[in-house]
Amino acid sequence: MKKVLFVCLGNICRSPAAEGVFRDMVRQAGLEGKIKVDSAGTGGWHEGDSPDGRMIQHARQRGYDLSDLEARQIRAPEDLSEYDYILTMDSSNLRNVLALDVKKEHHHKVKPLVSFCRIHSVQEVPDPYYREADGFEHVLDLIEDACRELLQHVKKELSA
Ligand code: 4NP
Repeated sequence: MKKVLFVCLGNICRSPAAEGVFRDMVRQAGLEGKIKVDSAGTGGWHEGDSPDGRMIQHARQRGYDLSDLEARQIRAPEDLSEYDYILTMDSSNLRNVLALDVKKEHHHKVKPLVSFCRIHSVQEVPDPYYREADGFEHVLDLIEDACRELLQHVKKELSA
């Protein structure tokens, strides 16, 4: 079993989109029992909320259903211990998650999601909250690119 946690700020736009995209890829690969997927926010303002309606719409157009997801705040140290991959969306999320790992025991698990991108060469998944439709499409492009490679990576780990 490998466990993947996607992390953004609010857990209503980027990380639930990554959770929805990756869990579909995991399902299609028949690995549901082998890979656990979840997402969380570094902030807790949206705890219990559904994903942002714009993110739900844009994801739906690509065949991903995010409507059952609920925002939660990351829990330290529990999430840091439990998950094998803790994948952050931007540099601020990365800094904030690393700061939660006070004893620096789990730093090696924490990485920018875009470090798995094959097609795009970018530093982060930008916050689309104050952006137009193209901002949400860009988020999904980056997430799909990274998640394809992430799945290959986790598959190799599972068989190692
Ligand atoms: P997310 O986007 O981090 O991708 O979920 C945001 C959602 C809400 C806020 C910021 C970013 N907010 O400040 O409420």
